[in-house]
This record gives sequence, C-alpha cells and structure tokens, in this order.
Amino acid sequence: MEKKSTRIKTLLTPGEVAKRCGVAVSALHFYESKGLIKSTRNAGNQRRYRRDVLRSVAIIKIAQRIGIPLATIGEAFGVLPEGQPLNAKEWAKLSSLWREELDRRIHTMVALRDQLDGCIGCGCLSRRDCPLRNPEDKLGERGTGARLLEED
Ligand code: FES
Repeated sequence: MEKKSTRIKTLLTPGEVAKRCGVAVSALHFYESKGLIKSTRNAGNQRRYRRDVLRSVAIIKIAQRIGIPLATIGEAFGVLPEGQPLNAKEWAKLSSLWREELDRRIHTMVALRDQLDGCIGCGCLSRRDCPLRNPEDKLGERGTGARLLEED
C-alpha cells in the first residue's frame, strides 16, 4: 500500500492521471498501447506513471482536438528520448516538427472562418459568388474538396 503524502507525488496511478488530464483510464491504456506514453509497474504489478506524463497526455489531447492523427503524434514522440522527462530543448524540437502542419491548419481554419458564408470552391455552385470564384467548377481541375480553403 502506498503512503499518502502532502508532497507532490512523482508517480501517479492511472486514476490520478486520468482525473488530472480529463481522460478515461481506458484512454491512457490506449495511448500506451500506441506507444505514446509509458508506465512502470509497482510491486503489486499495477501501472504507475511518472508525473511528466501529464504534459504528454495534455499535448496528445490538444493535438487530437485540432485533428492531428495519433500516428503523427506517435512519430513526433518517437524521435524524442525515452525514460526521462523532456527538457525545453526537446519540446522545442517537437514544436518545430509540428510547426508547418500547425501553420497549415491555422491557415485553413482562418479561411474557413472567413469564407464559410461564400464560395469555398467545392464544386456545388450553390452560392451567389460561385460563378465568379469557381466558374463552371474550374477549380475541380486543381484537386478535390474546397479548393479555395485548401489552397494558399
Ligand atoms: S460554394 Fe461550392 S463551388 Fe462555390
């Protein structure tokens, strides 16, 4: 049995991590099965997570919320050293890996916000400005989807 302490705990139970992160314990197991986070086992063979897992799970949650696939998150985490809390330089490396993708997503979200009420170049030709912005669906020749949102 673990001792209760008023000091900050360095090893957390799955329940403690789940509560602090706002995820289900099953999500932690899932992230672990994908290699995104790691746990150790205590003498009773129960999972324990180092406290820095809170930062990893928080980043995973936000990345997922903005649509970064788990595989991409895993690739980024995979280039970082294991078995120790990441330092600022390593988090900066992760940030640089995602910068281009995040910039692209920000651009798309801003375009969606600003152009949602007008023609987005999707081929529907249903808006008043479609004939002007996408006459006869010419944009369809350049690719799929909402060309005016996806192109620079
Ligand atoms: S909104 Fe679909 S082509 Fe203009």
